[in-house]
Amino acid sequence: MDREEVLESIKANVSNENLVKHMLATEASMRALARHLGEDEEIWGLTGLLHDIDVELTGSDMSTHSKLGADLARELGASEEIAHAILCHNETHGIPLETKLDKALFCADPLTGLIIAATLVRPDKKMAGLEARSVRRRFKEKAFAAGANRQQIAKCSEIGLELDEFIELGVVAMKEIAEDLGL
Ligand SMILES: [Fe+2]
Repeated sequence: MDREEVLESIKANVSNENLVKHMLATEASMRALARHLGEDEEIWGLTGLLHDIDVELTGSDMSTHSKLGADLARELGASEEIAHAILCHNETHGIPLETKLDKALFCADPLTGLIIAATLVRPDKKMAGLEARSVRRRFKEKAFAAGANRQQIAKCSEIGLELDEFIELGVVAMKEIAEDLGL
C-alpha cells in the first residue's frame, strides 16, 4: 500500500478537514507506538491514517461505520490485519480486539481527540507548549472533551503501556506534525 494513494483516497472520500487532521494525528500516534513497541511502523501508521475513511460515507450510521472502512482499505491493498483493526475499532459491531494492532488503534483513536482539545483551550491554541502532564490532568476531568472516551484510552494497558507513557508518546508524536494539524 502506498501512502500517497491512501491520502488521495482519503481526500476523495472526506471533505471535513478536521476529520482528515484526526486521521493524520492517529497515524502519527500509531507510528510512535509502533516504534516504541518494536512493531511495523508502516503498517501501524497506515492503519491509523485509514481508520475513519468511511465516516462521511456512512453518515451517522454506526452499524456500517468501519465495515465500509475495512472494505475501502482492502480495495487500497490493505492486509486483513489492517482491515480487522479498522473493523473492530467501532465497538458497535461487538468484534473482539485480538491483535496488538487492534488494541493500539482502539486506544490511540480517542487520545488524539483529548490532545487536540487540550491544545485548543491553551491561550495560543498551539501544541508547542503543551505538556503531557496537562493532558493527564484533563484526562481526569470527566466533563472535559467528554467525547474522548477515557475507558477506551485507558486500554493502553492492554498493549503494555502506562497511561502517562501513552499520553507522552501521543503528545510528542502529534507535536511533530503540529503544522499539518494547524496547531
Ligand atoms: Fe477515529
